[in-house]
Amino acid sequence: MSEPAAGTPFLELRSVSKTYQLTKTHAIKAVDSVSFSIAEGEFVTLIGPSGCGKSTTLRMIAGFLKPTGGDILLEGKSITALGPEQRNIPMVFQNYALFPHLNVFENIAYGLRARKLSDDIIAHDVAMICQMLNLVGTENRFPDALSDGQQQRVALARALVLKPKILLFDEPLSNLDARLRIQTRAEIKRMQTLLKITVLYVTHDQSEALSIPDRLLVMNKGKIVQQGKPREIYDFPSTPFVADFIGNANFYDVCVISVGSANVQIALQDLEFDVSLDHCDHHPTKDEMALLSINPITITIEEPDGVLGKNQCVCMVEQCLFTGHAFSYTLAFRDTSIRVLQPNIQGAVTQFVPGAEVKLTFHAQAFHLFRIQE
Ligand SMILES: Nc1ncnc2c1ncn2[C@@H]1O[C@H](COP(=O)(O)OP(=O)(O)O)[C@@H](O)[C@H]1O
Ligand SMILES: [Mg+2]
Repeated sequence: MSEPAAGTPFLELRSVSKTYQLTKTHAIKAVDSVSFSIAEGEFVTLIGPSGCGKSTTLRMIAGFLKPTGGDILLEGKSITALGPEQRNIPMVFQNYALFPHLNVFENIAYGLRARKLSDDIIAHDVAMICQMLNLVGTENRFPDALSDGQQQRVALARALVLKPKILLFDEPLSNLDARLRIQTRAEIKRMQTLLKITVLYVTHDQSEALSIPDRLLVMNKGKIVQQGKPREIYDFPSTPFVADFIGNANFYDVCVISVGSANVQIALQDLEFDVSLDHCDHHPTKDEMALLSINPITITIEEPDGVLGKNQCVCMVEQCLFTGHAFSYTLAFRDTSIRVLQPNIQGAVTQFVPGAEVKLTFHAQAFHLFRIQE
């Protein structure tokens, strides 16, 4: 087999679409001309709200579904016409999909037996993977005698033992409790680094999405709407959808008062703020109405001291929820409300109660200005 040319992406989707024909007259475009590529060894996360087309995209890559348009390439060669068994791209599912009538050993060995490998090789490979995933001692148990976390590790072992070229995960942690989610997430990242495999990981959970991957693809309504490093996407969302979905932003209609060489001045009711032009998705013009997003974690909240400077205002606390790592405030903000997230630095943070007056300071990086879409 010839080697792919240098610079060829490991996995590439070119304008891949999938339409589900529901009735003669009604069809759903679940995936709409999606293009992206993944480099060898990269960990890429695909995030988007429920129903946006994530699972459909994964199933087309694994070969369980045929695209209605476009091409899928692995190491530069089209695999679109190949069946799942010819691709070696296993998928780890949310519900584990273990075989209930097979014990742990046989569940893990299943794909190796299908490849007609010798018993010695199978025993060796299964033992290795059980060691790596802390499953030693469970080999003779059946899935219903395992905890959720163990079942998920068996599902992971069953995929990894096949030494796949690329591994797909479809919301693999959704059924686990919060502590196990964090542990299993770290485990997946460790295995990926250790075995140098390429991963495409689907989730709708933003904390999961931001923490592991090298790169993030954000999907909405069947399309990839932004891709980049997690930090770039968090700090520079390209659309209001991304600012909302990834950063839980506050949104306000504002008026552009003046446009300078580096900043644009905007009015939010009686408040005036400067927004860096780097944080605008278009070049604003004077008197234009635009949509301002404010990330709740970039706002400072403190005791009022009678002095109000630029980008500051006084508001009243309506609600304060303590989440352990932060205080999540809702405040009355002119004729609407604003959410502020204050990190809990132990012993160093005052908790304000409903009814308290507080001073908010808005920082330039908090703002993004978007064109209002008709
Ligand atoms: N087999 C199917 N037949 C018809 N519609 C489907 C089928 N599978 C998914 N869909 C629809 O396609 C869209 C995308 O679904 P899916 O890829 O499962 O989204 P996600 O994984 O992001 O939640 C949804 O509107 C869903 O209802
Ligand atoms: Mg899904």
